[in-house]
Amino acid sequence: MCGIVGYVGQEQAAPILLDGLSKLEYRGYDSAGVCVFDEGVLKVAKAKGRLQALIDLTDGGKALHGCVGIGHTRWATHGAPSDTNSHPHMADSGKIAVVHNGIIENYLELKELLMARGKKFHSETDTEVVANLIEFYYDMGCDFKDAVQKAVSRVEGSYALGVLCRDYPDTIIGVKKDSPLIFGYGQGCNFIASDVPAILKYTRDVVYLNDGDLLVMDKDSVHFYDQHGEHIQKQPEHVSWELSAAEKGGYAHFMLKEIHEQPKAVRDTIHPRIKDGRVVLDDIQLPASYLEHLKRIYIVACGSAYYVGIHGKYIIENLCQVPVEPVLASEFRYADPVLDDTTLVVIISQSGETADTLAALREAKRRGARTLAIVNVVGSSIAKTADDVLYTWAGPEIAVATTKAFSTQLSVMYLLALYIAQDLRTLPQARYDQLLTDLLALPDKIERVIAPETIQQIQYYASQYFNNHDVFFIGRHLDSATCLEGSLKLKEIAYIHSEAYAAGELKHGPISLIENGTLVVATATNPKLFDKTMSNVKEVKARGADVLGITIEDLGGEIAKTMDSAILIPKTELLYQPSLSVVVLQTFAYYVALMRGCDVDKPRNLAKSVTVE
Ligand code: AGP
Repeated sequence: MCGIVGYVGQEQAAPILLDGLSKLEYRGYDSAGVCVFDEGVLKVAKAKGRLQALIDLTDGGKALHGCVGIGHTRWATHGAPSDTNSHPHMADSGKIAVVHNGIIENYLELKELLMARGKKFHSETDTEVVANLIEFYYDMGCDFKDAVQKAVSRVEGSYALGVLCRDYPDTIIGVKKDSPLIFGYGQGCNFIASDVPAILKYTRDVVYLNDGDLLVMDKDSVHFYDQHGEHIQKQPEHVSWELSAAEKGGYAHFMLKEIHEQPKAVRDTIHPRIKDGRVVLDDIQLPASYLEHLKRIYIVACGSAYYVGIHGKYIIENLCQVPVEPVLASEFRYADPVLDDTTLVVIISQSGETADTLAALREAKRRGARTLAIVNVVGSSIAKTADDVLYTWAGPEIAVATTKAFSTQLSVMYLLALYIAQDLRTLPQARYDQLLTDLLALPDKIERVIAPETIQQIQYYASQYFNNHDVFFIGRHLDSATCLEGSLKLKEIAYIHSEAYAAGELKHGPISLIENGTLVVATATNPKLFDKTMSNVKEVKARGADVLGITIEDLGGEIAKTMDSAILIPKTELLYQPSLSVVVLQTFAYYVALMRGCDVDKPRNLAKSVTVE
């Protein structure tokens, strides 16, 4: 979702801002803009469409002169993507320029008040209201900082803001609530940004702002304040990962690179947490006395992370005998969940900033449940809010369609289940030991799924089926959960209508949609349920469907009896099998999208981090 960069220093700001924005493209956007102090005047350039349009418009930034500026990539919420609705937004009298990520919920009410006081508006956005509100307080006699602070105290909703004031040509103000914003210490320069990759070229020392924090920076200094305007100290954190981790490194797309990074990401997530034949989660505090009284686990998340939660239900109930309920965060926050101190709410989020998930987490805490977050982005809002955090060590995930974050979330689910099982003693020792052995071997097996022979096979099937209009994914037990993710991948990056069904459910309605040439992808990795799924495959074949199967190597001979097209994956512990089949489904979606000429890393209408409700 929207990306913010701000720079104050001695170099020309515009090229730095454009470069920073290019590192935030992964967040999803539909227009971009910059504002630079050019000889004391706030000069704005903005363009609808890809960042390249803004780069062309400003001659790579050379058309704007000045060493202080803010930049933005906008993902439309209020008003269609257009030059006018793009950020930065100027206040009516031209004294204030603002870039914003988030949603101002009471913007209409504020707009009416401001219009009644003579302010004119030029866009349909909520952001223009903030610019005018700041200008309103500034005109009332507040200094720049107080005007920003007063304005945000009137605002309901979420925001990360970068603000310039015509009368403060050396200063940028940043402030945030429920949308991410970081500060970066440079040498003779300073930065704000929505995320680390935007400024990593210039600094590794960053401060993750908390909700309510406001900063005032010039090229040599920064001052932090809390929501009451009191001066506060913030400790910088050092970023240890390399910029190359957020670059394509020779791959055609981030998504392809991230698919190939999965063995390492899963290894990094699992291996350090298995010590001396036990799962050791040093980072969390779930005492045995608490686990013994645990009555229910809710797993709350959005999108792919929610699908990890559905896998989690099968895995945790099987290993720990504790009831698990996966719930969509957007529903959970407004439902009436029965929570108390015998309920654990597990929150899953790659970005740690998803608005619905964050709100659900807060609601769970408010209702007295213990909360545990599984998060990829260190220092994110969800990581800071939850009682406990288990990080997925996937590294930065840039492609909008998640791959390695999904796989590492699944890995943490295995670890968490084993951790609870060892405390509750729900598993015989031999079974527990075998589960650990298989878990340690999982990254090597993922490696085998992305071996060139399998990739070529997947490419071949993608070339056979990329023109299909409708695709169904079917499977049973954990395979049905993995199908949900395979179907989402195809929808989001290849724009193909697809559905995922528990294989046994097809005959209760959806089978009426099967016609000649409809593609059905059947995932059947569970030997005990294999024949049942094959019966469902025969049902759709009888109605004209083309079927592509995914099964384990041991069942290669069997699947050939029912279908001509199948991809074989290594066998592992049944509960871990989704970690292998999902890689096939991700790769299939990737090549189908590629063959359809889609923008794989930046699919239309989507944002990487969904910071609005
Ligand atoms: C996955 O490919 C999606 N882009 C999306 O469903 C994503 O998983 C969802 O928005 C949740 O994001 P989060 O993990 O950052 O909270």
